[in-house]
Amino acid sequence: MNFNRIAPWFGRLEKIVFRDQMQLCRTAFLSELPAIKKAALIGEGNGNFLIQFLCHCNCEEIHYIDSSTQMLNLAQKKIQSHDFPGLARIEYYHLDLSLDGMPDQNYDLIVTNFFLDVFNETTLDKVVSKIASSCTQDAHWLYADFQVSGNRFQRCRAIVWVKTMYLFFKLAAGIETMSLTDPSTLLDRNGFQIKGSTEFDNGLMRAELRQRKNKVVSDSELF
Ligand SMILES: C[S@@+](CC[C@H](N)C(=O)[O-])C[C@H]1O[C@@H](n2cnc3c(N)ncnc32)[C@H](O)[C@@H]1O
Repeated sequence: MNFNRIAPWFGRLEKIVFRDQMQLCRTAFLSELPAIKKAALIGEGNGNFLIQFLCHCNCEEIHYIDSSTQMLNLAQKKIQSHDFPGLARIEYYHLDLSLDGMPDQNYDLIVTNFFLDVFNETTLDKVVSKIASSCTQDAHWLYADFQVSGNRFQRCRAIVWVKTMYLFFKLAAGIETMSLTDPSTLLDRNGFQIKGSTEFDNGLMRAELRQRKNKVVSDSELF
């Protein structure tokens, strides 16, 4: 799987096909985030979300992870062309999370925008567990992705879109699956419960804010 070839076209294609809907979906819950210390933005691509993230979140450390060098270069160029303070807090990691481990531990925010849909069921399970095990016990997870949901019309429309997109990404980037797996059960199983959920583009996309609830209570909190 390699997104290098389509990296330069990704932003333009997104705008032509979905106008502003994907970006609205990515950023839906940014204003509801609590204070964050350490965030992992995973499979985050060309940097469109990162700019909005920096406007909203005064996070101390940001780990920007992607398996495509082209996507990482685009994100770095984009961010350097903006006048944001404290760019040194962003570290870029060239990692394939289906094979590599997370670069660090104790993340209190995970962001996966239109990333988990590139995996088949088996890999998705491994990737979600790997990410979850790098998080704090009360971490938040911002999730945005496509879905097949709603009434008969919405479901039929979504099936056509999803099939077309998978065919395109199979040919252009060699993604490992041709079908969309909803990660809700995996996120639930890893303790990330829904705090907020909203849909975009007539139900074709869903944004969620989740938080881990199996917080370990320390002795000092008990007494
Ligand atoms: C469909 S694009 C989404 C990009 C961006 N998050 C967005 O919302 O537009 C998927 C991104 O995940 C990256 N990616 C795919 N497989 C990956 C993997 N195994 N590990 C890390 N990144 C991966 C790709 O390089 C690409 O940037």
